[in-house]
Amino acid sequence: LTDAAAIATLAGELGYPSAEADVRARLEDLRGRGADEEAYVAIGDDAVVGWIHVYRVVLLETSRQAEVGGLVVADGHRGRGVGQQLLRAAESWAIERGMREIRLRSNILRNDAHRFYRSHDYEMIATSYLFRKHLSR
Ligand SMILES: CC(C)(COP(=O)(O)OP(=O)(O)OC[C@H]1O[C@@H](n2cnc3c(N)ncnc32)[C@H](O)[C@@H]1OP(=O)(O)O)[C@@H](O)C(=O)NCCC(=O)NCCS
Repeated sequence: LTDAAAIATLAGELGYPSAEADVRARLEDLRGRGADEEAYVAIGDDAVVGWIHVYRVVLLETSRQAEVGGLVVADGHRGRGVGQQLLRAAESWAIERGMREIRLRSNILRNDAHRFYRSHDYEMIATSYLFRKHLSR
């Protein structure tokens, strides 16, 4: 929770501008979900330089698996292995909980990220559209 401001800044770099208060509330939500969620920050020079969020997915149609909800490393700290360490932390979290597969979704425009994932043995298994609907009472 004390890293909420830094996490919010990096969420902006990821393309999701977020207020510190909103990130704080989301972290509280994650904490409420207990053992099915984890978030890690990477620290460099006494500051947060990256974060990853991983969670357990329960679907009717597939076996239990982990999914990365978000991963970002601060511009200026990329290409030094921080992303790799965060990914490893998420994978270890999943392995320790008996999950045999980890997945993530990545915008088709993020070519650098796709290269990064491929170099860490992630294979692209599908492309899909994302639909949404605003809900009102
Ligand atoms: C994708 C992202 C998380 C990767 O993080 P990163 O810290 O740059 O990743 P790493 O440094 O571990 O690896 C990146 C590259 O640097 C190289 N590298 C790793 N350690 C290195 C080091 N010590 N020195 C130089 N290069 C290094 C790796 O070989 C890797 O090469 P690759 O692109 O061919 O895979 C980061 O670039 C990022 O935040 N991008 C913007 C947001 C984004 O796209 N997030 C993913 C959304 S799906």
